[in-house]
Amino acid sequence: MSLLSRFKTTKIGSSISYFIQPRKVKFEWQATPIDWIPNQPFASYFVNEINNILPAGEFWFCRLYNKVLAQITDEKLKHDVQAFIRQEAMHAQAHNSANKEYLSERQIDIQRNLDIMNFLFNQLLADQPLGLKIPKIAEHQWDLFRLGVVATVEHMTCVLGKYALYNTEWERLGADANMLDLVKWHGAEEIEHRSVAFDLYRHLGGGYIARYYLSVVVIIGVIGLWVDGAAHLLAQDPRFKQLKPAVYKPWIWKEWFRISQQDNRLLSNPLWLVSQQLGYLMPWYDPVHEGSTDDALYYLEHSPAAKRAGLKVA
Ligand SMILES: [Fe+2]
Ligand SMILES: [Fe+2]
Repeated sequence: MSLLSRFKTTKIGSSISYFIQPRKVKFEWQATPIDWIPNQPFASYFVNEINNILPAGEFWFCRLYNKVLAQITDEKLKHDVQAFIRQEAMHAQAHNSANKEYLSERQIDIQRNLDIMNFLFNQLLADQPLGLKIPKIAEHQWDLFRLGVVATVEHMTCVLGKYALYNTEWERLGADANMLDLVKWHGAEEIEHRSVAFDLYRHLGGGYIARYYLSVVVIIGVIGLWVDGAAHLLAQDPRFKQLKPAVYKPWIWKEWFRISQQDNRLLSNPLWLVSQQLGYLMPWYDPVHEGSTDDALYYLEHSPAAKRAGLKVA
């Protein structure tokens, strides 16, 4: 049997032998300053924007995965998917708590950013996009396209998760312990469940070629939304107001690039981020080679938020 025909005929199930563990977390935001990395307002806002971007998308992952759950014929993969759903729901709740108890409490308008994400995930990428009913014959293809989007985004969240988990610069600069824990806890769980979306996509018939256009769509979408949302946050701060930050103006892009060049560990370089997509396009791509499960689990065992929630549950 040729390699190609084996790709086509093998029903792909779970590619991991370990069991993914959903964890409860509890974050406290009373003492977290807006410049959660001291004296680094741009980087602080830039990372803070992920609180706005993520919840709507993660809840959408959960709804979509619940919808296709009954189609999974591999028991271990079904278990992985259920654990993935519980982890992503917890991520969304944790970032929402930062939106409500931290950013909004400090009089920062985030509603405009949340509205964009809600439109994207609750309307445009819904089961009935913009209210249009998908014909029965095309329903599987619509689901498969969306599962492909999730798998491609999950490659990116794993890359960013690695970046956050191994980052030592934020801590060295005296970063707020809560925000630091939020991004590292989330990053570590992204590494832990990095194989699930890719396995599920292939299990339900997702093909290789689609990874190319999905990568283009996802890279442009994620980076564009991130910079656009960060610009809206920055524009509210007197230190940046007169620059009128906007996604279509060069300043914010130049500043991101400059800070990532100045100290490569404070923010990831945008070009590096794009280059990380190349691995995903290789026919032999396997998410398990992205990051270390042991390192992720080590962090998760010591995460203050996970420990705190554990105490409350107990
Ligand atoms: Fe997540
Ligand atoms: Fe994830």
